[in-house]
Amino acid sequence: MANKNAIIEVKNLTKVFDNKVKAVDDISFNINYGEIFGFLGPNGAGKSTTINMLTTLFPPTSGTAMVCGYNISKEPMEVRKSIGTVPQDYTSDSDMTGQEYIIFCADLYGIPRNIAVPRAAELLKLVSLQDVAKNKIDSYSGGMRRRFELACGLINRPKLLFLDEPTLGLDVQTRTAVWSYITKLKKEYSMTIFLTTHYLEEVDALCDRVAIIDHGKIVKMGTPKELKAGLGGDIIEIGIKETSINISDRILKIKNVKDVKRSGGEYRIKAKNGEELAPKIIDLILKNKYHITKIFLTKPTMDEVYLEYTGKSIRNEQSDKDAQFRQLHTIRTARM
Ligand SMILES: Nc1ncnc2c1ncn2[C@@H]1O[C@H](COP(=O)(O)OP(=O)(O)OP(=O)(O)O)[C@@H](O)[C@H]1O
Ligand SMILES: [Mg+2]
Repeated sequence: MANKNAIIEVKNLTKVFDNKVKAVDDISFNINYGEIFGFLGPNGAGKSTTINMLTTLFPPTSGTAMVCGYNISKEPMEVRKSIGTVPQDYTSDSDMTGQEYIIFCADLYGIPRNIAVPRAAELLKLVSLQDVAKNKIDSYSGGMRRRFELACGLINRPKLLFLDEPTLGLDVQTRTAVWSYITKLKKEYSMTIFLTTHYLEEVDALCDRVAIIDHGKIVKMGTPKELKAGLGGDIIEIGIKETSINISDRILKIKNVKDVKRSGGEYRIKAKNGEELAPKIIDLILKNKYHITKIFLTKPTMDEVYLEYTGKSIRNEQSDKDAQFRQLHTIRTARM
């Protein structure tokens, strides 16, 4: 287990609760220095359980992991000193002021006051909370509280930060603000970030790589671009006025066209690089003096990737299994 690019090396990590719930089921993966790595999955998939083991909150049932060069089972104190954590649930004491609580966090790490005070001020400024530092935490809005917890997680200048659902329940504007703080941490502090999320846009906007986890197992891993490309390409929909003429074979002859379906004058074309192919198809139509009635290019989204690998739509997790299957079937056939 010695990969010098990896800041986290997870090997066969497993957690079974009460001898029956296999929350994390034999997962192995690496996270490289400087990456923003996303763990994407539905409720109960095992995201928080994985983070809780990697941050040494509780031990694995079997398997292990190296975090910042330390073994989570044998050197938990070293791991804790090297990382920052922002858990899924709020942990800050709402009776204290922001300033008091962040200094209290610094005390827990044994950071001397002469370092802790200016660092706390710098971090509160980073998350734009300097003006409310002396206000009680319970007066903060949900978004302010999340940003505050982010600042607390950074007090020990960690090389690696764990964020469990950093934007859960936040409005779109605040979510975008949190994203920009996260990007800043990566850029300005060269921090590695491991985050869990329900939000597909979050993965697309932030993550260098993503692992989709479901029922405790990693079902797919790659860059968002790779995962989307893995779905089999873009869809070009094109219509021509000449409904009695069939140009399917001529379209199929164009390089990189994978599939053509025709219905009257409407063609549904599957292709690897839609934007490069669309002009060639248009050329073919115009050269033959046919008339275009519509043209439409669709790129695969993370939503479809998620649906493909978990069989669930993230926006509709509560729907019954039949509905999920129907939805998956609809998307699959739409892509064929
Ligand atoms: N302390 C515990 N004792 C027993 N079962 C647990 C415990 N913590 C989690 N579980 C179970 O383990 C599974 C994984 O839970 P976990 O919290 O890791 O999921 P998650 O992916 O973080 O979900 P969410 O998106 O809801 O936060 C679930 O079935 C959950 O009920
Ligand atoms: Mg969770």
